[in-house]
Amino acid sequence: MEKSSRPPIVTIHGSADEGAVAAALELADLVEAKPDAVLGLATGGTMVGVYAAFVREARARSLDVSRVRTFNLDEYLGLAVDDAKRFRHFMELHLFGPLSIPSEHAHFPDAERAQTDAVGAARDYESAIEAAGGIDLQLLGIGRNGHIAFNEPGSSPDSRTRVIELHGATRADAAPSFGGLAGTPERAITMGMGTILEARALRVLAFGEAKAPVVERMLHGEEDPETPCTFLRGRHGDLAVHLDRDAARLLH
Ligand code: GLP
Repeated sequence: MEKSSRPPIVTIHGSADEGAVAAALELADLVEAKPDAVLGLATGGTMVGVYAAFVREARARSLDVSRVRTFNLDEYLGLAVDDAKRFRHFMELHLFGPLSIPSEHAHFPDAERAQTDAVGAARDYESAIEAAGGIDLQLLGIGRNGHIAFNEPGSSPDSRTRVIELHGATRADAAPSFGGLAGTPERAITMGMGTILEARALRVLAFGEAKAPVVERMLHGEEDPETPCTFLRGRHGDLAVHLDRDAARLLH
């Protein structure tokens, strides 16, 4: 990937809600202009407000979303297909259900196949993204340890879709929703940093004080594989970052 010198556009919003709405409005504008847009989607608490605002906006504008195609960043391995913690379930709840996005248009890396054929599952996901014409706009949250999707510390900037062992901090953050660490998945399949950097636009959202240190490293730190979000800043020509005041607290 060519390095780009174009700096990110950073917006510090008055609240997380305002940041979520800003991202949702851009998504709505994109779908209005390009009804067969390819959206790269993320899960996590940060995205709940974005999808709620997008659903409101899509309804208000009577947007036709029947031709939108979506690719989610990642999925846990080892969860039953009907487990409510699956990222597909999260997306059904917050976005696909409310907007009746057909399930055949909503793509996830194949977590079942990845258990026995990690290479095949990864290759097919990359091929599906390519066949769709690439991702127009990719939403991204950040893990407290600087992960992007599930590109954990140690990930390289040219990494591709693959199965990865989840970092201790990632599992600890997820543990409460799995009833403790023992029930928390140990592996996931994730788009790579290189895959993500190929999306035509990247939109990073981070809200709350807990994200402030990693936001500071993303925007001011040197590139460092231990903090994969640091690979975004100098390697993309269309990167925007939406923060609230708490997440921006350590910026200068
Ligand atoms: C998970 C996801 C990431 C997400 C992160 C942050 O680890 N794989 O894509 O960015 O959580 O989640 P939250 O938005 O809940 O802080």
